[in-house]
Amino acid sequence: MRSPSASGLDGVVVAETALSDVDGERGRLVICGHPVEDLVERATFEDACGLMWNAAYPSAAEREDLRAALADARQQAFALLPSLGAALDSADGMEALRAAIGHLRAGELHADAVRLTAAIPVFAAAWARRTSGQPPVPPQPGLSHAADYLQMLAGAAPDRPRVAALDAYLCCVVDHGMNASTFAARVVASTGSDLISAIVTAIGALKGPLHGGAPGPVLDMLDAIGHPDQAARWLTAELTAGRRIMGMGHRIYRVRDPRAAALERAISALEGTGAAGARLTLARAVERDAERLLRERHPERALRANVEFYTAVLLEAIGIPRTLFSPTFAASRVAGWCAHVDEQRRVGRLIRPASTYVGP
Ligand code: COA
Repeated sequence: MRSPSASGLDGVVVAETALSDVDGERGRLVICGHPVEDLVERATFEDACGLMWNAAYPSAAEREDLRAALADARQQAFALLPSLGAALDSADGMEALRAAIGHLRAGELHADAVRLTAAIPVFAAAWARRTSGQPPVPPQPGLSHAADYLQMLAGAAPDRPRVAALDAYLCCVVDHGMNASTFAARVVASTGSDLISAIVTAIGALKGPLHGGAPGPVLDMLDAIGHPDQAARWLTAELTAGRRIMGMGHRIYRVRDPRAAALERAISALEGTGAAGARLTLARAVERDAERLLRERHPERALRANVEFYTAVLLEAIGIPRTLFSPTFAASRVAGWCAHVDEQRRVGRLIRPASTYVGP
C-alpha cells in the first residue's frame, strides 16, 4: 500500500463537473454529453469551444459567431508579438508558450477565454517559425481556427484533409476529467486568481512528459525502431533498462484509451493523401508488441496505448513538427481549462488539502 503522498491522489474526487466524464474501466469519454468519437468524427474546434463554454452544441449561427470572435482575437494576439520581449526565444515550445501567455493582462473571464484560446496557436506558430529563422505569418480572418493554425505555420493555405484531421485532434483532447493540468488550473482558480494565471499554471503542468509531453518521444521511439520487425527487440531493451514506453499506460484507463482509437481512425482517413501510410503500419506493430511485452511484465495492470501514441502519428501526418506537439495539445486543452476555471469559480471555495507531517 502506497503512502498518501506517493498515491498521486488516485481515485480522490476533488470536484463535480458537467464538462467531461472518463470511464476508465469501459474506456469511455463523454464531453458535455457527447461521446468523444462523435466529436472527433463531425465537430470543428469552434463546436468544441461552444460545447465547453456554453454547455450546448452550437447552432450554425453560434458557430459562426465563435469562429469570428476567435479569428478577431487571433489578429489581436498577432499584434502583440512585438511586445513579447524574449518570450519566444526559448528552445522549448512549452517554455516559450508559458512565457508568452504570461504577458497577457487579465480582464473579464469570458473575453479572456477567447483571447487565450486564440493566442496559443498564434504564439506557438510564431515560435516555430522563429526557431527555424522565418518571420511570423499573420492570421487570416476568413479561416477556421484549425486552418489558420496550419496557415500560420506553413505560410500557405492547408488542404482540407489536413484541416479536418487537425479539427479531429483538437476536438479529441479538449477536455479529459480531472487531469493534472486541469486540476492545477482549478487550484489557481479556487484562490480567486485570474484566468491568465490559471492557464500559465496549466501550461506548466502539461509540459511534463508524464502528462502532455509524450508524443514527441513517441515519434523518437518510432524513428529509433524504424521497422516493424525491430519493435519487439527495441522495446525489450528499453524495458530491461528500466525505461517506460512512451504513449503506453494511463492512470485512469484499464482498457485502450478511446481517444487512441478515435485518432487512429482519423489517421486512416488521411491515408488517402499518402501522408500516414508507413508510419501507421509501424505504429500499429509497435503498439501490438508493446502491449504484449507490458502484459508479460505487469499482468496485474493493463498498460495499453494512450492518446499520445496516435497523437504523434496524426500530428506528424498533418505536417506539424514534433517540437510543436505539446503546444498543439495546449491549443486545444486551453478551451477545457477555461471552462473548468469558470466552473471552479462558481464553487467559490478554496482548494486546500491536508498533508501528514513526517518530519523531525
Ligand atoms: N512503460 C513501462 N512501464 C510502465 C509504463 C510504461 N509506459 N506505464 C506504467 N508502467 C509500469 C510502472 O513502471 C509501474 O511498475 P512498477 O509497479 O513495477 O514500478 C507500473 O506500471 C504502474 O505504474 P504507475 O507509475 O503507478 O502508473 P501511473 O498511473 O502513475 O502512470 C502514466 C500513468 C501515464 C504516467 C504511465 O503509464 C507512464 O509513465 N506512461 C508513459 C508516459 C505517457 O505515455 N504519458 C502520457 C499519458 S496520457
